[in-house]
Amino acid sequence: MIIAIDGPAGAGKSTVAKRLARRLGFLYVDTGAMYRAVTLKAIENSVNIEDEAALIKMAKETNIDLTDGPEGSLTVFLDERDVSLDIREPRITKFVSDVAKIKGVREVMVGLQRKLGSQKDSVLEGRDIGTVVFPEADKKFFLDARFEERTQRRYKELAQYKKDVTEGEVAQDLSNRDNIDSTRKCSPLKKAEDAIYIDTTDMAIEEVVDRLEREVRC
Ligand code: DC
Repeated sequence: MIIAIDGPAGAGKSTVAKRLARRLGFLYVDTGAMYRAVTLKAIENSVNIEDEAALIKMAKETNIDLTDGPEGSLTVFLDERDVSLDIREPRITKFVSDVAKIKGVREVMVGLQRKLGSQKDSVLEGRDIGTVVFPEADKKFFLDARFEERTQRRYKELAQYKKDVTEGEVAQDLSNRDNIDSTRKCSPLKKAEDAIYIDTTDMAIEEVVDRLEREVRC
């Protein structure tokens, strides 16, 4: 069974997808983490973010693995190295949308996502899961929230990682990524026609997870 959860940054996808996967005993696949891992590798190897051919070549030669980490967290391996924390750095967030808009990079990631999802019952979370990666998913959800709420959530999340950023910077970054993610040519962020739309602005996390679980089990 495949459950697709899409939506913009800060809509609550990661937390909800992770908890839903745990409740159902499904594999949790954070597809944004994959684009972040590729971006990290590019930065570490001084690959120019505008050099599409170099980025595609690099993505093809990259090994990305996701496994369950401690206390329901996710461990992300980039070429066998644990990069779970590094990929959350603001320097990665700043460039990840530019890397994720490259068609050839997406093709490599989508291949990997389909492989992971076809091996086990899975909850996949991202921007194009219900539209492109698994258009035949058993259940599709599109999570959204008001911009101010999404900014607040991201800000608090970064504070947890003790990242030194202001709320204004988080808002700027979010607005920039919303724009790139939803206007890019290849697989832009958009709700699949058959996805269930949920505005999570005034909902508690558990409420959202309960709602999704009910939909999946019915
Ligand atoms: O969910 P996130 O913030 O970790 O995602 C990082 C970036 O990756 C986001 O700006 C858009 C991109 N992304 C994508 O294009 N397609 C996906 N399926 C998942 C993420």
